[in-house]
Amino acid sequence: MATQRTPIISGNWKMHKNHFEAIQAVQKLHYRLDREDHESVVVTVHPPFTDLRSVQTLIESDRMKISLGAQDCHWEDQGAFTGEVAPPMLAKLDVAYVIVGHSERREYFGETDETVNKKVHAVLAQGMTPIMCCGETLEEREAGGAEAKVEGQVRAGLAGLGGDKVGSLVVAYEPIWAIGTGRTATSDDAQAMCAHIRRTVDEAFGADAAARVRIQYGGSVKPGNIAELMGRDDIDGALVGGASLDPDEFAAIAQYRLH
Ligand code: 13P
Repeated sequence: MATQRTPIISGNWKMHKNHFEAIQAVQKLHYRLDREDHESVVVTVHPPFTDLRSVQTLIESDRMKISLGAQDCHWEDQGAFTGEVAPPMLAKLDVAYVIVGHSERREYFGETDETVNKKVHAVLAQGMTPIMCCGETLEEREAGGAEAKVEGQVRAGLAGLGGDKVGSLVVAYEPIWAIGTGRTATSDDAQAMCAHIRRTVDEAFGADAAARVRIQYGGSVKPGNIAELMGRDDIDGALVGGASLDPDEFAAIAQYRLH
């Protein structure tokens, strides 16, 4: 029953920090984290595209254990898609994790379950790990439709994958009403939805995938609420926005086990 899933704490910087600021932030984060932290939790940072090369060089030259992540990508390997970034370009930069289907991309940039699904496949094809986001609006939650919404996103976003691949990736549950609002889901609500996601994966992709898939909670995660969230059975990590911009705060979140 008790499958060991390595916790994963990810910092989504969104559209913040130029490459100079990114280098400073990652250096500071590196100094705040020690060997025991890296042995017990995977820490990923997701800067804007323009910062990736600088951060990659820093991580490599200082042999940092921090993993590099991106915030999005296109699903094609190359082509006439002005302004887009292809998965092989990210893989070449040693990007290990790619956020796919963040609610801000769905809301402001027309991302659909179908494009999310194509991107998940494309990221995996390059040997990188997708962090596939899902989550309901406040209206959907108040109308009693949160579980159905999230289940639909998980089934559609992961469609066509084998259980083996699903077991290797990360699903981030981010209730939209909790993002950047200071209003965190209660740990009971977050746990209930993460358990529902795991049940959905079990039904659609099998017990092994469900036992292995890592599920993050995201939405106003802070040093003060992370320990309680991480104490719940089906929450394996966090996708952190605002609090990941400050290396001290983000390090304190990654060190939740010490709180
Ligand atoms: P906040 O932590 O700022 O609420 O953002 C959450 C988020 O959207 C991470 O992807």
